[in-house]
Amino acid sequence: MSTTLIKGGMVVTASGTLDADVLVAGEKIAAVLARAVTGEAGEEAAAQAADQVIDATGKYVLPGGIDAHTHMEMPFGGTFSADTFETGTRAAAWGGTTTIIDFAVQAKGTSLLATLDKWHAKADGNCAIDYGFHMIVSDVNDASLKEMDACIEAGVNSFKMFMAYPGVFYATDGEILLAMQQASRSGATVMMHAENGIAIDQLVAQAIASGRTDPVEHGLTRPPELEGEATSRAITLAKVADCPVYIVHLSARQALEAVAAARDAGQNVFAETCPQYLWLSIDDLARPDFEGAKFVASPPLRTRDHQDSLWKGLRTNDLSVVSTDHCPFCFKDQKELGRGDFSKIPNGMPGVEHRMDLLHQGVVAGELSLTRWVEVASTTPARMFGLYPRKGVIAPGSDADIVVYDPLARQTLSAATHHMNVDYSAYEGMEITGQVVTTLARGQVVVGDGAYQGSPGRGAFLHRGLNQYLV
Ligand code: URP
Ligand code: ZN
Ligand code: ZN
Repeated sequence: MSTTLIKGGMVVTASGTLDADVLVAGEKIAAVLARAVTGEAGEEAAAQAADQVIDATGKYVLPGGIDAHTHMEMPFGGTFSADTFETGTRAAAWGGTTTIIDFAVQAKGTSLLATLDKWHAKADGNCAIDYGFHMIVSDVNDASLKEMDACIEAGVNSFKMFMAYPGVFYATDGEILLAMQQASRSGATVMMHAENGIAIDQLVAQAIASGRTDPVEHGLTRPPELEGEATSRAITLAKVADCPVYIVHLSARQALEAVAAARDAGQNVFAETCPQYLWLSIDDLARPDFEGAKFVASPPLRTRDHQDSLWKGLRTNDLSVVSTDHCPFCFKDQKELGRGDFSKIPNGMPGVEHRMDLLHQGVVAGELSLTRWVEVASTTPARMFGLYPRKGVIAPGSDADIVVYDPLARQTLSAATHHMNVDYSAYEGMEITGQVVTTLARGQVVVGDGAYQGSPGRGAFLHRGLNQYLV
């Protein structure tokens, strides 16, 4: 079994920092050897005899990032998100993410298990890093409800539902309640896209009818109050069904207030936000010459004042995860579908490559502590989605998913240098302090020496357990 010693770095985990060397044997972490103390003689000897040594002097050594919300090859609005599982997971590895959890999308009239097969066919044999699936339930009926248990047996125990997109993914309150009751019986978690889609569609129709068709209207027709209202409603339905609920891509202060109140009351309510809501704003949606289309995603980018609330929510754990909602559409020939009618712009933005960097920028800006960075980007998603302690921590026995991160490196984000299969960067020109130097996925260097060294198919499907925050 080949061994690697990651030497001289500072190990950062959710529980603290430690000057330590990390010994990897095969696919697993074999030992964490604090430099201030002498370790077991056997481990010391093994470290000295390691086949490969990675110098991490002056660098952080982190558990690999877990992006719990991606959409590779996702059908949306007559097109597909531009990253395949191959290109998207490669870009993720460049950015220090070693696990993604992607969404299998049930089309109306199809079964959940057939959907799962379809997503396995897309992903299996193509991923550079390990991956799991959530299931989007868009057709609630007796058969789908029954199949939720079969999905859990197949390692998929989180089910996303939509209060937005009437006629496409939308589920009524009654359907949501039924799915939540079913999830509750099995210990599964319902993930909610919480925007009041019925009201939004009226605002959208009014905007189009009065000739307001630019991308900024996407934001103006999806006001934060309608995210707050839907979030409260989702929480109420979850309470009645006694089901854990995880609010995805939370963007608005009003929604965060609803989450915080429910958590204070002791309900199993969790929420994630995304880097775009922390760093970008509705001003980006208002960029001229259709440039705003690059920033069309739902929920929309908000006014800047929401950002302070989101950073605070991350510190207080009312927001416990940061995922990307990576769903890239090329500006040139995909976002273009909505020129002259913002409601036809495919919803989604690229981001899987830069989550760790954009959160580290929060550390640099004094918004997050180092340990909290690791917690929201790796450890909590591992626990939330049944992967811990295999993932999300640097400890003996865990998968050797490890990132060597240079906290002082400077980089400028740009489509010219990123690895995502999309023709623009939402962060073009943004200067970042910090950069991934090396990414190991289950013991193998996939990014190192400035080059991609992985291969499609090395990533394995993760059969996940249940949410570990539930009592
Ligand atoms: O605009 C977005 N977020 N696109 C991806 C689908 C979703 O709702 O997560
Ligand atoms: Zn969504
Ligand atoms: Zn999404």
